[in-house]
This record gives sequence, structure tokens and C-alpha cells, in this order.
Amino acid sequence: MSTIRLLCDQTLRHEGAGGKRDDRRTRGTHASVSIISNLGADGNPVKDNGGLGSYEVVWHTDNSYVEVPPAGSMLYSLEVPQNGGGDTSFNNQYLAYEELPEDLKRAIAGKSQVHDSTRNSAGVLRPGVKLPARPEEVPGPTHPLVRIHPVSGRRALYLGRRRDWPSNYIVGMPNAESEALLDKLWAHATQPKYAWMHRWSAGELVLWDNRCCMHYRSEIDVTQRRVMHRTTIKSEPIVAA
Ligand SMILES: [Fe+2]
Repeated sequence: MSTIRLLCDQTLRHEGAGGKRDDRRTRGTHASVSIISNLGADGNPVKDNGGLGSYEVVWHTDNSYVEVPPAGSMLYSLEVPQNGGGDTSFNNQYLAYEELPEDLKRAIAGKSQVHDSTRNSAGVLRPGVKLPARPEEVPGPTHPLVRIHPVSGRRALYLGRRRDWPSNYIVGMPNAESEALLDKLWAHATQPKYAWMHRWSAGELVLWDNRCCMHYRSEIDVTQRRVMHRTTIKSEPIVAA
């Protein structure tokens, strides 16, 4: 099955509301569609808009900080920079697992990780949440480091997101050991040989499978606009390997 699918020359309109197209600077009129843009309150591109802004977005899989993360995500491009970054890369976590050195495979067999839910995708602490001082204070669901894809039956590494300590940690392992092992896993999983980069044109829809790939966005030229629609696809519970 496909990990990523690209559809070009798409014109998406909301059904109902007379097929009226969204205002590009506001929340989507459909509850499940959000707008990812680098625009500020005045409608012009900015570095920081309280969301992802024009910043680089490091490798991650979407919403791993919830009990049942989305199976897939979809991004639709309304406005994109011209040679101004904002490219999205995807990497293959089936291959990352299959090519993991045997000692690392053994080290993570049957192990799980707590996925930090204190911060949003922009790395900002959620309202009312205190920054944890030690791992025991990090809230979030526990997911296996290796998962079985429910459709393909293949094993994939499932790392979530790497943040500054204290954040995600491996359950039942001393802190220093957990950090060292996560560093090795991330270094392996994010090698360029597992990745493919998409440079956007307007009117494209990309769907990807969060159960077997991670994604990354490069920094955006702050003088250029980037406006996308995003939605996620409901999943079944994670199956541990
Ligand atoms: Fe994402």
C-alpha cells in the first residue's frame, strides 16, 4: 500500500454553503479542517504567528500525544512560496525499522515510550500546563516503539517527536539510558536515505500514512505567503509489535 499519495490540480470546495470557498486567513468553515499558514493577524506573512508561523517543523508523526493518533493526514496547498522553503519531507519508517542494527532491534523489543502531551505542534506549552521537571511528571499516552501496520502487517518504528528533556521517555529504563537510546533511534530514523521531499505547487493534495512515516517541513521565506488546509484521518488503536 502507498505511504504517501500526491494529487495535483485539485480544486477543493466545501459541500453545503453553496460551494463557497474558505477565507484563506481564517479557520476553515468545516470543523475538521484547519488552516496552516504563516500569516499574521494583518494577513501578511510573519515569522511567528503563535502557530507554526514560518519556522522549520522538525521530524514528527502527527498527534502521537493522544491515545489513538490519526491514521493519516492530508494537506492541501492554497498558496505556496516560490523557491522559498515550506517543502514537506516524508520518511519511511518501515525501512528504518527493517534496517535498524540488530543490537538496537533487541534493545527496543517490547519497549514503549511515553509521548509528551504538554506542548502543541508549535512546541508551545498548552494552556494551564506546567513544564515538567522530570520524566515522571510528563503526561501523555504510552505507545510501542515498534508498531504493526494494521493493513500491511509490516513493522514500523514509531518515534513520535523529539523534544528537549524532559519529554518523551522509554518506560522502565533509566533516564540516561532512555535518552541515549532515543538519540540513536532518531539519528537512524531520520537519515536522508529514508526520506523524500515534496516541493509544493498550489492546488495539490498530499495524503500520508502516519502509521509508517514521519514528516518534516523546511523553514519558510518570511516574505512569502504559505496557506494550507489540513485535516486528519481517524485511526484504529495502535497495534504493538
Ligand atoms: Fe505534522
